[in-house]
Formats: sequence, C-alpha cells, structure tokens
Amino acid sequence: MNSGDIKAWVDLQAHAEEMQSQHLSELFQSEESRFDMFSFAAEHFLLDLSKQRITKQTLAKLTALAEQQELSEWIEKLFTGEQVNVSEGRSALHTALRLPKEDALQVNGQAITKDVHASLEKMESLVRQIQQGQWRGFDGRPIRSIVNIGVGGSNLGPLMACDALEQYTPIESQQLDVHFVSSMDGSELEKLLPMLDPATTLFIVASKTFTTIDTLANANTAREWLLKASGKPIELINQHHFIAATGNIELAQKWGIPERNQLLFWDWVGGRYSLWSVIGLPIALKVGMDNFRAILKGAHAMDVHFREASFDKNLPVLLGLIGVWNINFLNIHAHAILPYDGRLTHFPSYLQQLEMESNGKSVNGKGERLNYRTCPVLWGEVGSNAQHAFYQLLHQGTELVMCDFITAAVRYEGEGDELQQQHQLSLANCLAQSRLLALGAESTTDLSYQHYDGNQPSTTIMLDELTPETFGGLVALYEHKVFVQSVIWEINPFDQWGVEKGKKIALSLSTEFKSEVGEHLDSSTKGLIQHVQANRGQYEN
Ligand code: F6P
Repeated sequence: MNSGDIKAWVDLQAHAEEMQSQHLSELFQSEESRFDMFSFAAEHFLLDLSKQRITKQTLAKLTALAEQQELSEWIEKLFTGEQVNVSEGRSALHTALRLPKEDALQVNGQAITKDVHASLEKMESLVRQIQQGQWRGFDGRPIRSIVNIGVGGSNLGPLMACDALEQYTPIESQQLDVHFVSSMDGSELEKLLPMLDPATTLFIVASKTFTTIDTLANANTAREWLLKASGKPIELINQHHFIAATGNIELAQKWGIPERNQLLFWDWVGGRYSLWSVIGLPIALKVGMDNFRAILKGAHAMDVHFREASFDKNLPVLLGLIGVWNINFLNIHAHAILPYDGRLTHFPSYLQQLEMESNGKSVNGKGERLNYRTCPVLWGEVGSNAQHAFYQLLHQGTELVMCDFITAAVRYEGEGDELQQQHQLSLANCLAQSRLLALGAESTTDLSYQHYDGNQPSTTIMLDELTPETFGGLVALYEHKVFVQSVIWEINPFDQWGVEKGKKIALSLSTEFKSEVGEHLDSSTKGLIQHVQANRGQYEN
C-alpha cells in the first residue's frame, strides 16, 4: 500500500500531530478515569493501555484503520487455512495445533484436527514411555537426561516454556532433567556432555527442515560422543538415543532416526509458531502431557477471543494497533519487553524471533517496497534486572522507547510470607517504573540530571496468575498481535527470506579457511580469514 492512499492512515497522521504535543501527565490530569477507559480484560488477562499516548479518538481511528485494511477478513483467512504465506504458497495454521478434538478442520483434503491429535497421541505415548522409565539407553538403564538440539523456533519456545512452568513439573517427570543446546559453535555441548551419562541420555533433534547446519552439527557431535562412549553400532545408538521432531521425515530418516522415533509436523506450521506442535516435546517431558494440553487450551481460548471479540475489546487487536500507533504515527522505533517475573526470563528472546523474523520486512506481500516503518528493534530482560542495566536510557536517554510490562497479579499463594513479599516488591517496582516513565518527575533542585521527562508510553499486561493455561494465552496473544500488525502493514509475516542468503555465503566461505583465500572476496572477509589462518598456525606449532 501507499500509506497516503489509506484514508484512516492520513487521518491518524493528522491526529498524531495534535497528540505529539500532549504529555501523558496532562492526559492523566484531564481524564481521571483513564484506567477505566483504557484497560481491557479477557481470558485471565488485563491489558492496561492507559499509559499509552492515546485518547478515545485514537482508538476509534486505529480500529477504523484495521477495518480499512480488512483485518476481519484476514483473521478468517488465517483460521480457515487460506494460503496467507504467499511467498511459500502455504497456510499458517498454528491455531489448528490447539484445536480441541471435536472442532474438525479440513483444509485442502487434509483432516487437520484429526492429524494434529494423532500426532499429539504419538507424542504422549513417547512421553509416557520416557517418564515411566520404559525408554532405555544402550546398556538397558532408563533415560534420565533429555537434550533438545534445535535453534530458533526449534529452541526458543520450548526453552522459554520449560523455564516458565518449571513449578508445574509432575512427579512422573521429576527424575528427568531437560537441557537445551542451540549454538553452532558447540559451546553448550562442550559444557554439558561431561556432566551427562551417555547411557541414560536421549537427544531430541528438533528441526522443521532437518537442514539447519547448526542443529545438524550439534547432533553429529552428540552422536559421535555416544558412539565413542558405548562402542555400539550406529543403528542401536540412533534407535535408543535419538528422537526427531521434524517436518522433513525423509531427511530425518536419512540421518538415521528410525520411524518409531520420528514425530512429525507440517509445512503449514512456521518454525517460530511451532511450540504447540511436536517441537513442544521437551515441554511435555518437563511439565507433563496434561500441562502441555493445558498450554494448548489457554492458547485456544485466546484464539477464540481473537476471532470473535469486536476490535475495541480484542486484546491482540488492541496490542497490535497500539504498536502501529507508536511506530508509524509517534515515531517510536524501539520496543522493550519487561517481564516482572523471573520465570519469563526467556520471553524477550522468544519475542525477538516472533516479532522481528515475522515483521522485520520492507516489502509487502506482493514484493512492493513499503513507504512506512514496520517492526521496531525489540529487546528486553526481566524488568527488575533491567532496572540496574538499561533503565537509565529509558528514563533519561534521547531515544523514545515503548515498553511492555508483563506481570502476574498473584504468585506464591500459600508459600510463605517472605516469597509473597518478594512478589509484592516486584509488583511495586513494575508499577513504579511504568508510572515514572509515563508521568516523569520534576527535579526538586535545579539540577537537570535529577529531572525525568517521562512521556515514554507503556502497556501493562497483567495475568491473573502464571499457569500453563495463561502461559499459552500469553504466547498466543503476541502471535496474534504480530499478525494484526502484518495485516496493517500488508506484510507476509510467515516467511523469512532475509535469513537465507547469509547461510549460503557461510557455506561457501567455510571451505576458504582450509585453502588459499579466494581473490574474489572483499578485503575485509579475506583479511579476517587470513588472520584466523595465521593464528591457527601459531597455535598448532
Ligand atoms: O534461519 C531461521 C530459521 O529458519 C527459523 O525460521 C527457524 O525457526 C530456525 O531457522 C530453525 O529452523 P529448523 O527448525 O528448520 O531447524
């Protein structure tokens, strides 16, 4: 689209000019009931937008933009399996992964719900065998350690979920320890392998494509370790120590993983949308299959809300539109994710992939260049830790930053006063920071370094409690937020061509380290390779 051709966009630009001069402290003074006006509740969530630089008019204009961009139609296309991923000719049906059994969905001749539940059942059967000690390693002892080898979407979701929901580990899983390995350079394996017993360790090779070099390199190292430690044939090692969670059965098979150990998902599940599929196996092993199903249930409740609620009450729609307002109309291009809950440590990095790999694009679905900004730079950290690291910039720097504060109203019920007090302390800090960022504070002296400008907008997302269900809902909330923004920006959020070229160049460069450096290379790349070669020589001598 040319933004100038969209009436609601032009309208918002004019409105933004008026709003630019308004300070959040003035908005709070003039509208006493801002919290009532701009907080929205649904599905165990409260979304407080009152600290955003908006009025009722802003929201009306934003929802008009959503209507003009045919958001309702796009939501239906998403849920019904139309090929919304146009560049790859695929549907994006992650919502189907959390459909209850009785909600039959059929797309292009595939009985989606039936296949999804069959795959969940195969996963459940593997989980039970492992939990009950029936899955045995090469010397007949039961498996005790699980190592998930995967990267990006095949790592970040399961890692985040296992950490966030650790307290829900059922008795059957308590004897299992679950680890994650992603880095291409082998750093994690180098540290982890000496601590594990090869005979009782099971590796999950998690890769949608089964071509990702990072994952294959780690899987090969792991297998060599097992072969050396056991002295057993490779077939036996593959059979007892490797499971594949993949969309590419042929390559998994070729690598040596037998059919019994293959868990399948489909090309209509994007990597960064795959934690609900068999990629969630480590989650199910850690928190149990019942809790895994509860995660799906919570996400499904958010799906239903997203599909059915009117835009002015729809949490993912509102969250997405607020982002558009900040980015395209208030010119804010940095976004901090600040969970005030140590269990959500990995949530910012999960969202980095979800948001930036989905919407970090400058052409529309038809391949035309866009004349407006899209996904901002997104980063984050557990809020209370970030206070001691980068909040200085949020409060007194020169950058405009929008923040998402995420917290749970209730925690540690019945677990002792000290912990409850710590939770309250954390909540108090969360509220204090968002308040100060919004309202600012005059210096009591004439020292300018004691002055806080404020006017940094933020959203607070408050979960009733962090449970498997609300965790599922929280992740689905952000998935849909990203989709809403992609519709406004006319982006295809389900491809990631921007990450392909670098992989190819790396493949061709990796041979250069062993030989005479090619003349065709630029001087920097050539110089750096030669520097490595020179150092390597010295080290070996
Ligand atoms: O390189 C990016 C990417 O393709 C992500 O989209 C994906 O989540 C990750 O790599 C891992 O891919 P795979 O699951 O196919 O190994």
